[in-house]
Amino acid sequence: MKAKNQNLKAQVVIIGGGPAGLLLSQILMNANIEVITLETRTRNHVLSRIRAGVIEYGSMELLKNAGVGERLLSEGIKHSGFLISSQNKDFRIDLTLAGGKSVYVYGQTEITTDLYKANDKLGATVIHGAKNVSIQGLTTKNPQVSFEISGKPYHIICDYVAGCDGSKGVSKNFIPKEKMTVHKTQYPYSWLGILSKTKPAHDELIYASHERGFALASMRNENLSRYYLQTTNHENISDWPDEKIWDELKKRLPNEFSTTIEIGESIEKSFTGLRSIVVEPMQWERLFLAGDAAHIMPPTGAKGLNLAFSDIHYLANAFIDFYQKGSSNSLNQYSERALARVWQTIRFSKWMTNLLHTPAKINSIERKLQLLELQELSDSILARKALAENYVGVPY
Ligand code: APR
Ligand code: PHB
Repeated sequence: MKAKNQNLKAQVVIIGGGPAGLLLSQILMNANIEVITLETRTRNHVLSRIRAGVIEYGSMELLKNAGVGERLLSEGIKHSGFLISSQNKDFRIDLTLAGGKSVYVYGQTEITTDLYKANDKLGATVIHGAKNVSIQGLTTKNPQVSFEISGKPYHIICDYVAGCDGSKGVSKNFIPKEKMTVHKTQYPYSWLGILSKTKPAHDELIYASHERGFALASMRNENLSRYYLQTTNHENISDWPDEKIWDELKKRLPNEFSTTIEIGESIEKSFTGLRSIVVEPMQWERLFLAGDAAHIMPPTGAKGLNLAFSDIHYLANAFIDFYQKGSSNSLNQYSERALARVWQTIRFSKWMTNLLHTPAKINSIERKLQLLELQELSDSILARKALAENYVGVPY
């Protein structure tokens, strides 16, 4: 969309055209709320990002109700369980223990593609190449969002601003430092992810705990596999040629899968550092943060995208309450409601990360307790049920 007029107006301005911003735009457009989304990168760049691929039951429902679930339901792979392996033995986590719910394996790239297509169909205004985005007047009734396109200045007068600009975004910087607490923790490991046009190792995900380090066997479809290896935080892609990755995966995955794994050329290879970050509060005056702009967690529990979507569930409904019923209660309670689910999810992601990853300098007691917890999961249906409830997603 080319912005013709330099002075624009909207009820809500969304900063960030990733999954969070696009879903918020889609739901607000469906509710006839005037929204403009500013995205700093090109659409192709946004769609080129390879990210996670597990969609919670609640996210699937949210996308379906927003009119964006059709391809997910037809092309996404419904999963009712996954394997956890340790010491060459594996056991299955039956996700239907969590009230019969399942998850869908469907790449975030596909979700973002579907969201862009749905927004286009509604005639949503998504402005790409927006640079030097800044916000003024958040303590007034009509904040302004300024930005430039190819050096030309634009201003949008609005009622509210949604900061959906991810972990490197600017919106959180407009909350006064004294009003904001940023909680941070860094894990001593990273994930090396690869995408390969190969048959997945198994028809369900395999989370492998191993002395050499964690490995995850996932997929995008029956001919596209996604694998991850735990590495240290100080490695380079050049340290990991494809051959070394496949050898390491074979060592860490259970024998019954590593002997049959199909190897092939990687079509994408990247590192992700494991960390948790939470910005509190997730709102200040007329600014509301959602998604990675407000929180980051290790990908072990496949929660990043899903938590962004539960934020959007709360925030979109709060805007609808305001514009359709004239009530600000949900807007005033947004941060408290969203953070309750954020902290539950941070806790689960930390627990699952510590359960499955092998610290470089693990002491014997820690390793013993880790193996004991894995054994308890294997033995106890109640322990597996608790994991399943968190994995499919705690209620909104
Ligand atoms: N102005 C406009 N857009 C910006 C700015 C800015 N100053 N800074 C960042 N952006 C854009 C980024 O280019 C990106 O497209 O905001 C978007 C934020 O999208 P994401 O980082 O994908 O975050 P979010 O929409 O919250 O989705 C969370 O995406 O990256 C994954 O792991 C993450 O699964 C999680 C999900
Ligand atoms: C993925 O397929 O990218 C994926 C799956 C499960 C996770 C993390 C990533 O926990």
